[in-house]
Amino acid sequence: MTKNILILFTLIPLLLSACTSRPQEVHTTSPNGDIEVHILNNRRGDLHYWVEYRGERVIDTSRLGMDFYFAQTLDKDLTIRNVKENAQNEVWETVWGEQREVRDHHNSVLLQVQERERPYRQFEIMFKVYDDGLAFRYNFPEQENLDTALILNELTEFKLTADHEAWWIPADYDSYEYLYTQSKVSEIDASRYEGIELAKRSIDSLHAVNTPLTLKVNDSTYLSIHEANLSNYSGMTLLVEEDKRTLRSQLVPGPKGHAVSASVPFHSPWRTIQIAPRPGALVESTMILNLNEPSKIENPDWIEPMKYTGIWWEMHLGIATWHMSDKHGATTAHARELIDFAAANGLRGVLIEGWNTGWEGSPAPDQPAFDFSTPYGDFDLAAVAAYAKERNVVIIGHHETNGDVARYEERLDSAFALYEQLGVPVVKTGYVGNIRPEGEYHHGQWMVNHFQRVVEEAAKHHISIIAHEPIKATGLRRTWPNFLAREGLRGSEFNSPWGGGNPPEHLTIVPFTRMLGGPIDYTPGLFRLNLDKYKKGHKVPTTLAYQLAEYVVLYSPVQMASDLPEHYSGHPAFEFIREVPVNWEQSKVLNGEIGGYITIARQERGSENWYIGSLCDEQARELSISLDFLPEGKRYLCTQYMDAPDSHYQDNNAAYLIKNAEVVKGDKLTLRLAAGGGQAISLKVIDE
Ligand code: NOJ
Ligand code: CA
Repeated sequence: MTKNILILFTLIPLLLSACTSRPQEVHTTSPNGDIEVHILNNRRGDLHYWVEYRGERVIDTSRLGMDFYFAQTLDKDLTIRNVKENAQNEVWETVWGEQREVRDHHNSVLLQVQERERPYRQFEIMFKVYDDGLAFRYNFPEQENLDTALILNELTEFKLTADHEAWWIPADYDSYEYLYTQSKVSEIDASRYEGIELAKRSIDSLHAVNTPLTLKVNDSTYLSIHEANLSNYSGMTLLVEEDKRTLRSQLVPGPKGHAVSASVPFHSPWRTIQIAPRPGALVESTMILNLNEPSKIENPDWIEPMKYTGIWWEMHLGIATWHMSDKHGATTAHARELIDFAAANGLRGVLIEGWNTGWEGSPAPDQPAFDFSTPYGDFDLAAVAAYAKERNVVIIGHHETNGDVARYEERLDSAFALYEQLGVPVVKTGYVGNIRPEGEYHHGQWMVNHFQRVVEEAAKHHISIIAHEPIKATGLRRTWPNFLAREGLRGSEFNSPWGGGNPPEHLTIVPFTRMLGGPIDYTPGLFRLNLDKYKKGHKVPTTLAYQLAEYVVLYSPVQMASDLPEHYSGHPAFEFIREVPVNWEQSKVLNGEIGGYITIARQERGSENWYIGSLCDEQARELSISLDFLPEGKRYLCTQYMDAPDSHYQDNNAAYLIKNAEVVKGDKLTLRLAAGGGQAISLKVIDE
């Protein structure tokens, strides 16, 4: 897989002598020289870093260090004992993803740091600098005077150079299901969110955010702060300090006071700062993936990207129930109908929610009773699985835990064994409600480890995972490609009668924030946008073409055709959902303004066909794009699924047009997007 490796290894032993009180400075740059990182160990023995991008400072002098439970902080009287420099340039191949090949090209510097005084604790900080950003992490090697670290908090800072524009959600330790707010960093304040009181249980500060946090420095500099390879550690939120410029890492606490308990040796996740000259380049960045380890699944052939339908939306519309009733969704008969629908339309999977006992009264927060293996009396699991198999369709299983994770862990093995035996290759998990054991948060270390246990246990049974109410995505899909997708945002379920709707602007921010972490199970593709029948006056606030564009704009190796079959019936636009791939050769962001619009073009993996998705906020747009990414000398059939001239997300959201034309490389298209509208395009090679 590795095409070429250039490893440059320099050890600078005691270049910087220990026990000195002279300031020591180390610096390194990105391969193209645009990003420069400086690390300073000052006279007092503090450690700081700052970052320059194209000659301008983008992160000011920021502190590094750790705060422990019952032990001295590790942030002063430090000395750099050794510096090791390294460089790497290699290409690796994804099992699935937005692109087949990923180049990992970076320079790194490892600082070996030790306390100048007793107990002489040691740690290392490794910085990696790529052309698309930089990352650093703390590493605690084996040593005499430290065996277990109870981390209260990190003292890591990200000091901004001005009061930038930011796109953020509150630092809720249990949920990322919020609309983004755009404001100055100084105005980050979760009390802007109506009803935030309800979430107070899991919010320590109203002036803190979950990551990725995306920032605009100026018209040609964008930053996004996040983390990569979040393993055996708690999630990082960012607290806005009093000066309104400094963001400080605030780890999600655990029930005993400390955030992380780790035995030495261990390392923190990577603290990442993606840096890009335009918003679209943030989306194209591969740094988060590069910071994760190669796949641990030796033969990943059983991992299959797919589109799916499911027994799902009818529950959210309120016309079916998860529990057994005269409106029960998961009946054998209904499952068969959906399997037929999937088979007829090239959808490989059928998700079945509400098949197992325990849903009565759900989703009440403290609902007991799921055992993950007892079907309701009107659902014949084995017969449904066999019916699916005969039609070359697979069942996507469902494990809703209602937050009772302790109970789920006891049953993990038998639950996956049952599905494996039935040939179920994907399981959707869910964590609605407060986590039990009590005192744990969705984003704390215990849950981070739980998600890891689930994905590893699932792999043993050749099962892939789609997690809802998950820990955020930090690129672990590279190491565990059976972790196909996760929710971790305000998904399309909020467009249902129980939700407040996702305004069109939402998905013009998500690609530049949440999506930087990894694939999203947003559940796109609603065609019945007027939901008056289910709730008086209720509408899905996008046009139909916008719904189609979601399949290309939002990346996921599993995409749901989430509406009911009868709502797709008679719609020529359904053809786009039937055709659109979920696995790509390469992806290009053609344009984008955070909170305004975005257009992405992706080439189908293993084919020369391309697909484009474009969507915008509440303001109508005309976007000109050039098809210069197509190969020379090929003719393409270009099918545009577009808003009608009078489409509007509020008044006329179902209207659309389909236009066919022949195009070649370099042709220009003008995309006319209605208010809250979009466009989806397929470009298929015309065989000569
Ligand atoms: C919330 C999930 O996001 C949704 O997809 C699911 O249907 C319900 N929980 C029930 O598990
Ligand atoms: Ca959810």
